[in-house]
Amino acid sequence: MEPHLKILHTVSETVSRTLDVEEILKTALEALTHVTGHEIASVHLVATDGVTLELRAERGLSQQMREVNRALTVGEGIIGRVASSGATVVVRDVMGSPDLLPSAQAIVRRDRIRGFVCVPIAARGRMLGTLSLGRQTNDPFDEGEVTLLEATAQQIAIALDNARLSSELVHAEKLSAVGELASGVAHEINNPLTTILGLAQLLLSRADVTPAVHERIALMADEASRAAGIVQNLLMFARHYPPERRPCSLVDAVQRVIALKSYQLELDKVRVTTELDHSPIVWADENQMQQVLLNLVQNAHQAMARQEGERVLTVRLRPRDRHVAIEVLDSGPGIPASLLSRIFDPFFTTKPPGEGSGLGLSVSYGIVGQHGGRLYAENRPEGGAMFVVELPTGERA
Ligand SMILES: Nc1ncnc2c1ncn2[C@@H]1O[C@H](COP(=O)(O)OP(=O)(O)O)[C@@H](O)[C@H]1O
Ligand SMILES: [Mg+2]
Repeated sequence: MEPHLKILHTVSETVSRTLDVEEILKTALEALTHVTGHEIASVHLVATDGVTLELRAERGLSQQMREVNRALTVGEGIIGRVASSGATVVVRDVMGSPDLLPSAQAIVRRDRIRGFVCVPIAARGRMLGTLSLGRQTNDPFDEGEVTLLEATAQQIAIALDNARLSSELVHAEKLSAVGELASGVAHEINNPLTTILGLAQLLLSRADVTPAVHERIALMADEASRAAGIVQNLLMFARHYPPERRPCSLVDAVQRVIALKSYQLELDKVRVTTELDHSPIVWADENQMQQVLLNLVQNAHQAMARQEGERVLTVRLRPRDRHVAIEVLDSGPGIPASLLSRIFDPFFTTKPPGEGSGLGLSVSYGIVGQHGGRLYAENRPEGGAMFVVELPTGERA
């Protein structure tokens, strides 16, 4: 078989066999660097922040080359420009390229990298990353090699897309099974709860109960309405009908939620900062958006309350390409890496009973999804967690 075809065959065989992104990248780079020897190869993927390009796989890179390549920025340098333009770049001598990052110049010279080619990795109109190949010999990359690289990038894109879709599907399945169960139980519990609450309130309004009895009945009423709140959450979570969407201002929603929580936040010495200059109108169910924000702020508060040190809650609105992002940042302990994939699961909680039901994030995830948006979490490099609600902007998006 022709060597180029053989490489593609190896890559596509791996893509069809596994969903393991790391394995696919490793196989692809290994196969590619066998084209003529000499070559170095790397794959950068766009991080969840949309601007950082993370080095996710490499072959043949020197220690320093790895360092300068570890995190790049979309739009900057040769690789960053490929990620922003979506167009392949081929350079004969990378030292002579005006786009070469100043920080990389000395290392490129020392490692004697000459020819360089970088192709975009994109799936369904979404930029996912870049695939780069460099070589120390004088022969430039020819058309056949560039085509091979583009085809490999396409295979990698398919693999990344598959991996993402399959994890979303697994999550959706979990949501619907638990959701159906929850809605059945919630409806059953709602009726007796309403009766208890109603009767308790009736008793409270009577003049002939002693203060001691009054206090106990008040407690019963409080607890019954707390239970009703949980049921409400369950129903919301099991709700399959679409949200009632109207043009709404996210600034208002954020401010209302912060006002609602300000007393409790103050008690726990949490400083609140906001960056709300950017205020697009989104088509959204305002109540549901507020519920999402309240869940995120509540979680941030609880996470910070559990540890000493400065407590800062930041809520900011940021424009992103055809989206707006609401970011909720805290200075708490962050989310252990082993739990990151589970926090959105229904009933997943690390909190003691009474403090957490494990429904906040899964309900929020469902709401944001119904709005055509995305909810995700990451740990901040400086410590603490960041939750991002990404919503489409524009007319009835
Ligand atoms: N800001 C945060 N910092 C650290 N961990 C968090 C944060 N937000 C959520 N989590 C984790 O995610 C879990 C699930 O959150 P959630 O669905 O709101 O349920 P609950 O708050 O009732 O536990 C929490 O128990 C906690 O372990
Ligand atoms: Mg919560």
